[in-house]
Amino acid sequence: MLVKDIVFSAMQPSNNLTIGNYIGAIKQWVNIQNTYKCIYCIADLHAITNNNFNNLKTLSLNTLALYLACGIDPDINIICLQSKIVEHSQLHWILSCYVNWNKLRHMTQFKNRYMKYSHLSNKITVGLFTYPILMTSDILLYQTKYVPVGYDQKQHLEFSREIAKNFNKKYGNIFTIPKPIIAKISKITSLLNPKKKMSKSDINNNNYISLLDKPELVTKKINNAITDSDNPPIIKYDLKNKPGISNLLNILSVLTNISITNLEKDLNNTNYRQLKRIVANEINNILFKIQKKYFSIRNKEKYLNSILISGNRKAKIIAKNTLSKVYKVVSIK
Ligand code: AMP
Ligand code: TRP
Repeated sequence: MLVKDIVFSAMQPSNNLTIGNYIGAIKQWVNIQNTYKCIYCIADLHAITNNNFNNLKTLSLNTLALYLACGIDPDINIICLQSKIVEHSQLHWILSCYVNWNKLRHMTQFKNRYMKYSHLSNKITVGLFTYPILMTSDILLYQTKYVPVGYDQKQHLEFSREIAKNFNKKYGNIFTIPKPIIAKISKITSLLNPKKKMSKSDINNNNYISLLDKPELVTKKINNAITDSDNPPIIKYDLKNKPGISNLLNILSVLTNISITNLEKDLNNTNYRQLKRIVANEINNILFKIQKKYFSIRNKEKYLNSILISGNRKAKIIAKNTLSKVYKVVSIK
């Protein structure tokens, strides 16, 4: 039997997933699930870097139900909960003894959060700083070959590759060197600030479309999305000068499978209000299917927990094996 390459990816259950998570990551996860051996994780340990949750278990189950509702098949993939596989934290410590702290200072995500919280120095935790090492541990524990993520995670993946290469150079072939899989359209931006990434932890929920938003709310949020004041209106892809319109075109292109160039031609005589109506309709079509499935399974907690128990068990076997190799070479076993 041919051994399939391993795919690993994860999302933080910091809020319900957005259309950005769907387009940047989950859609790829679904597309490759029959080709590779896929491990899709819920990164609850990463989520606590925000340390303001009292309902993380609920949010993790919401995330799991959304994975399934988007088409992740629990019968062919391993779906697991990061905190239940202690090897993630254990490898994190070992690797943190092999990373120069200066490297972490230059990670974009850290710098952004640092700027955001600079007036609240108690919010800038060591966990926020070492976050990329935990992410690297997630990936390397499973001998992962491919990591499907959105564009914003590219730098973290480069970091993981570098750690794996350095470790292998010192100790032999301990880790598979992971490669990112990044879709052509992999950055959906905020609706009211289209130069910024759409984020599920944005304090203003008008900036994102949650996969659980009701149709009227989706329509309202898209109608309020920032475009530009070109007169006459021009529907043209131009990320620098027309980020709002480009974002709507990106969303529409992924959801309809029509190229941006063809959309520009088709929408030549369309005004912004009409474009927004088309985009909102497409989003509502896809959310209708996702929500139907979501609400049919979300209250079956026994079923959802059984998926995690089985996934955690399978994941742990692989993780333990890698960790034991690492312990051996660093001479603590
Ligand atoms: P997070 O929401 O930070 O847990 O991200 C989970 C996955 O979704 C990662 O692969 C991200 O790159 C992807 N992702 C999150 N937000 C976006 C976005 N606005 N556009 C594209 N991909 C995204
Ligand atoms: N840090 C990722 C994000 O915010 C989530 C994540 C945690 C992840 N561990 C991972 C993604 C491992 C890919 C692989 O998007």
